[in-house]
Parts: sequence; C-alpha cells; structure tokens
Amino acid sequence: MPALINPSILSADFANLERDLGRIANADFAHVDVMDNHFVPNLTIGAPVVTRLAEVSPVPLDLHLMIEDADRWAPAYAEAGAASVTFHLEAAQAPVRLARELRAGGARVGVALRPATPVEPLLDLLDEIDMILVMTVEPGFGGQSFIEGTLPKIRRTRAAIDEAGADTWIQVDGGVARGTIARIAQAGANVFVAGSAVYGAEDPAAEIEELRRLAS
Ligand code: DX5
Ligand code: ZN
Repeated sequence: MPALINPSILSADFANLERDLGRIANADFAHVDVMDNHFVPNLTIGAPVVTRLAEVSPVPLDLHLMIEDADRWAPAYAEAGAASVTFHLEAAQAPVRLARELRAGGARVGVALRPATPVEPLLDLLDEIDMILVMTVEPGFGGQSFIEGTLPKIRRTRAAIDEAGADTWIQVDGGVARGTIARIAQAGANVFVAGSAVYGAEDPAAEIEELRRLAS
C-alpha cells in the first residue's frame, strides 16, 4: 500500500494552527498530539481545540493521545470529529473494550506502544484495531532522534500482520526524516508521522512529497 505521510502539528505554530494546517493540505492526515502532563511530561491541547481543528483542517485528523486513563477520556476525541484515534496500550485498562467503543463512534482505532513496550500482546487482537503505532522516540517532545533499536519491532509487527492476512496499518512516530524514512519503510511501516522534518522545512508541502518519495 502507498506510504501515508502525517505531519505532526506539535511542530507547527500554536498561535496559527489553522494557517499551518493549510500548509500541509497535500498530507494524508494531520497528526495531533494530545498530552496531559501525566502520561508524558508535556501538555498540549484538549477536546475543544481538537473539535475546532477538525472543522478547519483540509485533511482528516489522526489523534495521538498521550494521556492517562484512556478508557475514560479517549471517546470524547472520537466525538470531536477525529478520523483516527490512537491511545497508548500502557494507559488503557481494557483496550479491546475501548477500541470497540471508538470504532462504534466512527473513528479508526490505533494502539500506541512506547519504545520499550512489546508488540506481542497486540498480535492476537489485530481484528479489533486498525493501526499499531510504534513509537520510535520516547513520547512527549518533538525533535528527538530516532531510536534504531525499534526497527526489529516494526519488522515483527509487519510479519505478524502479513501472516494473519490483516490490513492493520503500522504507524511510526519520532525522528522520521529524510535520513531515516527509507529504512523505516523497508522494515514494514506504512504510515509516517513527521513533525520537525515537515514544519522545520522551508516548504512543508514539498517536504511531504519528498518524504513520500523516499518511503515508496
Ligand atoms: C512525540 C510526538 C510526535 C512528535 C514527533 O511524543 O508523538 O508526534 O511530534 O516529532 P518529530 O517528528 O520531530 O520527531
Ligand atoms: Zn505523535
């Protein structure tokens, strides 16, 4: 399947989010990082802002919830109009129940894993989820360098999905840039989040095309 490029607006100008969403109109999704200052040591935006972003964005929203107690808080983000809602496995008490609730709310469902969290517990549950997000940095901040040791996890995830005949997407987030994206694609990922690489470029739309080319 073609590579999907999802720029992270964590590296956009938070005083000009509508303008900066307009700069990535050729992206597949806009990746929105929701942080609660508990699951990660950083704080961003909540459901009311996401609701407005969904209304003004030229592309669908791909939410990455870095929040504690996902079971309680994630459904509000599906209701906010996000096309895709990803919660962290480490922050959910009942991930299958939550995934079903989010799907019932009309969103695609992703489950995210910190770099040190194994993927194996998810591999028997592929029917229940639409995407696995393999974090390739510790979540919390943009601009960190890619953790090479996450590549075997991406390969194992791809092998298990193919063996099951599933069409679960594999997203990677953290340190995705011109110098890393080809290797990540070769390991089997098909959805690429890039924050600093896209918004740090002089022409974000051209950078999206370059990343897409390198991932294909
Ligand atoms: C980090 C966020 C990422 C972040 C990636 O916790 O989940 O989405 O924006 O930033 P870059 O692409 O700069 O590594
Ligand atoms: Zn993210």
